[in-house]
This record gives sequence, C-alpha cells and structure tokens, in this order.
Amino acid sequence: MTVESVKPEAQIYAESELREPPLAGGGVPLLGHGWKLVRDPLSFMAALREHGDVVRLKLGPKTVYAVTTPDLTGALALSADFKIDGPLWESLEGLLGKEGVATANGPRHRRQRRTIQPAFRLDAIPAYGPIMEEEAHALTVRWRPGETIDCTSESFRVAVRIAARCLLRGDYMDERAERLCIALATVFRGMYRRMVIPAGPLYRLPLPPNRKFNRALADLHRLVDEIVAERRASGQKPDDLLTALLEAKEENGEPIGEQEIHDQVVAILTPGSETVASTIMWLLQVLAEHPEHADRVAAEVESVTGGRPVAFEDVRALRYTNNVVVEAMRLRPAVWILTRRAVTDAGLGGYRIPAGADIVYSPYAIQRDAKSYADNLRFDPDRWLPERVKDVPKYAMSPFSVGNRKCPSDHFSMAQLTLITAAVATKYRFEQVSGSNDSTRVGITLRPHNLLLRPVPR
Ligand code: HEM
Repeated sequence: MTVESVKPEAQIYAESELREPPLAGGGVPLLGHGWKLVRDPLSFMAALREHGDVVRLKLGPKTVYAVTTPDLTGALALSADFKIDGPLWESLEGLLGKEGVATANGPRHRRQRRTIQPAFRLDAIPAYGPIMEEEAHALTVRWRPGETIDCTSESFRVAVRIAARCLLRGDYMDERAERLCIALATVFRGMYRRMVIPAGPLYRLPLPPNRKFNRALADLHRLVDEIVAERRASGQKPDDLLTALLEAKEENGEPIGEQEIHDQVVAILTPGSETVASTIMWLLQVLAEHPEHADRVAAEVESVTGGRPVAFEDVRALRYTNNVVVEAMRLRPAVWILTRRAVTDAGLGGYRIPAGADIVYSPYAIQRDAKSYADNLRFDPDRWLPERVKDVPKYAMSPFSVGNRKCPSDHFSMAQLTLITAAVATKYRFEQVSGSNDSTRVGITLRPHNLLLRPVPR
C-alpha cells in the first residue's frame, strides 16, 4: 500500500444551505468537553463521529470544530480556506521558532517547500540507501541476545542518526543524537502539557519541571546552532538538505536570514525524529506482540534476499513487511491529532465554519473507525493487499496527510521503517520483559509508555 494525495470530490453548497454543526454530547458546565479531552483524548476523539460529520466542541469558553469523516478530513487538508494555525501551532512556534516550514503559511511556506523538497523526492531516496542499511544493521549488532533493549532511547537514536546523517550529512552524531533524544523527550512532553493545560504564568515559575523544560529547550536550540556552525566552519557544501537551507534565497534574491536557517533545521529535525522514533517503537511492539507476523516478515526477507543481509534495493520487493509497517501506522499513528484554522467563512460538508475558527481532527480516530475498516481493531497487514485495499475509503489512511502540508518525508520514512523492520525481524524474535509497559502514552505523538524488549536470536 502506498499513501498518496488524491483530489476530493468537492460538493458545492450555496451559502444559504450551510448549517451549524451539532454540538457534541457529553460536555459539562464551564469546562465543556475539555475535561474529556484531557482525561482520555483518544477515546474522546474516536467517539465523535457518532455525533456528526462535523461537530462543535466547547473547550471552556471557546468553540472548536471537529471533523470526523475521512472524506471531510481530506477536503479540509486540501482546501485553501484553512491554514496551519491554532493553539498547537502557536505553541510549536513559541518554542521551536516562527520561521520554519512546519508553521509558515503563504508565499514563505511555498518557497520553503521548494527549498526542502528536492532532498525528499522519490529519486533522491536511493542515495540515502547505504546509510539506512548501515544504521538498520548496526541496531541488530548493538543489541545483545538476552539483554534488555530500552526501545525508547534505541528508536530515537536510530531515527536521529538516519535523519542527521542523510539530510544534514553530520558524522559522529552519537553524542548529539543522545542529547537530541533527551532534549526532545522533555520538550515534547512539556509542550503537550502547555497545550492541554494552557496555564501560561504557571509555566514561568522557577519550579523544577519548568527549569528542566527550559534547559531541554535551550539545549535543543544550542544543538542546532552547533550543527549549522560546524558545517559553515568545514567550508564544505555537500549536495544535501543543509546546504540547500544555507544557500536558500528570498524571492528578492537575498539570502534567507540566520533565524530562518536555524528554525528550518529545528522544523525538520524535530518532527522527523519524534515521528519516526515513535513509529519504530510501535513496530518493535508489534513484532513482540504478534510473533506470527514477525515470522512472516522474516520469511519474506529470506525469500527476497536468499539469506544475505537485507539491502535498500530489496525494500520494493518486501510487500508484506511494508504492509506490517502501514498496519502499525494505522492503529498507532505517531501523528494522532492535527489542527487547522479557517482563513475565511467556509463550508465543509454542508456545515458552516466561521473565519478564525479552530478545527481539529484525529488520524487515530479516522484510521480506527469501524465504518471504514472491517474488524477495525485487529492487526491485519493483509488488509493492504491490492485486492482488499480498494475497500478502504479515500483518506481513511493518510498518516502523512495530504495537500500542501503533506509530510515531505513520506518516501524517506517508509523506506527506513521497512528496512529497519526487515533487518531486526530477520535477526531476532522479541519478548517483553518485566517492567515493560506498552500501553499508549499520549503526547504530541503517540508512543508506548516504556517498551522494554529482550531480543532472542532466530
Ligand atoms: C508534516 C507525519 C516523518 C518532516 C507532517 C504531517 C504529518 C506528518 C501528518 C502534516 C501535518 C499537517 O497536516 O498539519 C509524519 C509521519 C512520519 C513523519 C507519520 C514518520 C512516521 C517525518 C520526517 C521528517 C518530517 C522523517 C523530516 C526528516 C516534516 C515536515 C513537515 C511534516 C518538515 C511540515 C510540512 C509542511 O508544513 O509543509 N508529517 N512525518 N516528517 N513532516 Fe512529517
């Protein structure tokens, strides 16, 4: 299964035909739906479709619109009436920088996409193949039979190393990967808390958790400064994303500013490592939880490679392994919530959305919906076989989103995730050890709370 953009069948409604979306049930006085969203956000988002295709939520005094059907999330992502903005993005901008591609809109966003896109194009990916192979196999050598693997740090480490080595051509990234991992874990946890409990002044008090958060944030920015300074000092200009960023020009031909270069590196490294790392954690969890699927992956790899180490060139032939990755991403999407803001008074599926309104939707809810998937909660990689995939409604599986904000890294991510899954599953079976906790931890991404595995050689 591949994930690609498709145009929605736009249905045109006259302004007078637009209705106000229904209010979702279950709100309480003053807090509205906020307490449910904080207490159990995944179940809350997954239940919203029962209330309507588009529903109003009350978060304290504020009204937020939730979109609950696959086709309308596609229409939302593809429509020019909605842009990246709202509390999620404001909080990201405040902490990670205002000038990166992930939060920019309009002409600046288009220019930035043009700068970064070549590094992620399908035909650019094979050049990263040797690094992805090396990193995937290095994992299997690092892990010792019988010793416990801390999947959180191991997943982060390999995700950061691949992103940094492929896109920023940074060598000796181990120490930085470690720092980045620690900084990101603290920053993302703190950012999520600041988003769901927006108690502004409280976060400025000199309390230990706030100090820890501020230290981690400062280290993240320092790290990026180090990476940029090191490249400049080297005088080298390899053909990579960092060179493209350093050489990027404004529309008027002037070089882009230092702040934008910094924010761009942050905007690429942070979502890149957090999302891939979370997905690797879920893939390891799947291999441990479903040994029958792990065995099929190992058998497929063996049949393709004839026993030699799996290589980047094999990825296209690893259909079943790819489907395991897609199915893991369906049930545990790293990016589980997305938001937009209406630029103008707009219509969506016959409902009126006023200018300035915040809109939210959940890939987690969409990808687990019983209306879209038979046996919706079952882990079934074969649902992505060509003869069955046609039953999946359009936009019911868009983990990289669609439209002008679609993740630039879909091919890059799928290649490394498939290769890593293939490499580790051929060498080991995995068992959870005591103290491991694979329940879902909700933050800016979804990941297991604390996955600890023991590798057993095949
Ligand atoms: C945007 C998912 C890996 C860089 C996005 C969006 C999604 C997403 C859903 C769109 C956000 C929206 O519509 O509001 C994922 C998943 C990944 C992954 C599931 C891996 C499993 C990566 C990697 C990188 C990356 C490895 C970079 C190395 C970005 C950037 C954007 C983005 C820069 C912003 C694009 C824009 O706004 O124009 N990602 N991503 N992502 N992703 Fe990824």
